[in-house]
Amino acid sequence: MAKFLSDVKTLRENARKNLRQGSITDAYGADLPRVIEVLQQSLATELICVLRYQQHSFAAHGLDSEAVAAEFLEHSREEQGHAELIAARIGQLGGDPDFNPDTFSARAHSEYKTATSLTEMIKENLIAERLAVDHYRELIRYFGDDDPSTRVMLEGILSVEEEHATDMHDLLVAHEGEPLLEH
Ligand SMILES: [Fe+2]
Ligand SMILES: [Fe+2]
Repeated sequence: MAKFLSDVKTLRENARKNLRQGSITDAYGADLPRVIEVLQQSLATELICVLRYQQHSFAAHGLDSEAVAAEFLEHSREEQGHAELIAARIGQLGGDPDFNPDTFSARAHSEYKTATSLTEMIKENLIAERLAVDHYRELIRYFGDDDPSTRVMLEGILSVEEEHATDMHDLLVAHEGEPLLEH
């Protein structure tokens, strides 16, 4: 069994070492370069979602669907919030958040898909949300107890992505007239 707690003297000595690493201490359990790499993917995924929702919001205005346009815009802002949280965490871990537009589409899990009908837009967003939900569930399992702060941040994001997926599912039902989920 692993040693349960370090004594105070050891904790104090460790805290004095490697000050330039900021909050990253010897007890940090995850593989830092890999962590930064996967968080860069999450950042890119969120940025794609920001752009897709924004584009859909303007396109839905054009289709005279103000309520749906407003919902897309609200989601776009929430995705922006997620991108900021992830970028801040990358910085805290000693990385450099990557906002390079030339490469973020290749790094992202989600896709930038436009559509000409409201139903197609809603479907694309539902697909992207389901992808985000799976992505974050995997990451939460990956981080486990090795980096609880990142895990807790991702758990917060995951619950919003689940709400987004439900919102898109409900909009799809409203526009197609029949429930997709079996209750
Ligand atoms: Fe998000
Ligand atoms: Fe989302």
